[in-house]
Amino acid sequence: MTDQLRADGSLRHLLTLETLSRTQIERLLERAQTFVRPLGARPPTSQALAGATVANLFTEPSTRTRVSFELAAKRLGAAVVNLEVQLSSRVKGESMLDTVYTLESLYVDAFVIRDAEAGVPGLVAANVAPHVSVLSAGEAHVSHPTQGLLDALTVYQRKQRFAGLAVAIVGDVRHSRVARSAWHAFARLGVTDLRIAAPAALMPAAGEFAGCTRHTRLAAALKEADVVMMLRIQKERMSEADLPGGERYFAAWGLTRERLALARPDAIVMHPQPMNRGIEIASDVADGPQSAIRDQVRNGVAVRMAVLAEVLGGRGARS
Ligand code: NCD
Repeated sequence: MTDQLRADGSLRHLLTLETLSRTQIERLLERAQTFVRPLGARPPTSQALAGATVANLFTEPSTRTRVSFELAAKRLGAAVVNLEVQLSSRVKGESMLDTVYTLESLYVDAFVIRDAEAGVPGLVAANVAPHVSVLSAGEAHVSHPTQGLLDALTVYQRKQRFAGLAVAIVGDVRHSRVARSAWHAFARLGVTDLRIAAPAALMPAAGEFAGCTRHTRLAAALKEADVVMMLRIQKERMSEADLPGGERYFAAWGLTRERLALARPDAIVMHPQPMNRGIEIASDVADGPQSAIRDQVRNGVAVRMAVLAEVLGGRGARS
């Protein structure tokens, strides 16, 4: 696997949180927090990355992640190009790497990549010029590191700690890169009561999610939880036959107010979005007083600013 760090130990690529230390993760979260402002205030801007160019290369649909990477780069003064690769050159047969080499010649300094195939961000990272960084914006079911960071930041803002928290990750854990990166982040940050809960068909293979307790009933997973993280059913990663029916799924696995009452009274509810209201989560819970879902979106920009500043900030304009 491509090394994410430079020889001096600084972060060059961000492909996974799995190999980062607790200190590295905490440093990114602290940096992200400096970019958070209350809603209604103007977000912070600077010219820290003036002259740098960031390319968003997305071959899977995305709203929040793509837009927040774009805003993050612009708020730090970088230029941004957005390529929806499936709509342009990729279908014409140009490979991802050829696209990357073309953009490198146009002075792109960082590639933000989302792809449905495992290994693509790592492949690009292994082939770019030494001054170029690659940031994963979601790799198949494998990892979504900036989402893991924004989830950790959201929890920390609400709870001011990680130790002693009970965190339940609920739903289609098997196909979820969000769950994997959240697990990496929370485990590294000292959450010891990590629970994954899913119907058998959506439970990850044995051996994955080491250290998490597994629940095949929602109620047991929610009991006294401090954080309830709901996941979308990743229809695009399963065959039609494996798809659970919406109403039946909601009856067994949907987060309703009644079920949320099993968790701690001050529990927070999270969801990476897009949400299927009435399938994995009831609307009144998603919009209710315990929901931190909008904070997650706000924190996404701050986290992506921190990551961009971290990987690109150390390098001035090259002559
Ligand atoms: C997620 C993703 O694409 O992995 N969305 C996101 O980035 N916030 C989750 C999902 O699609 O369910």
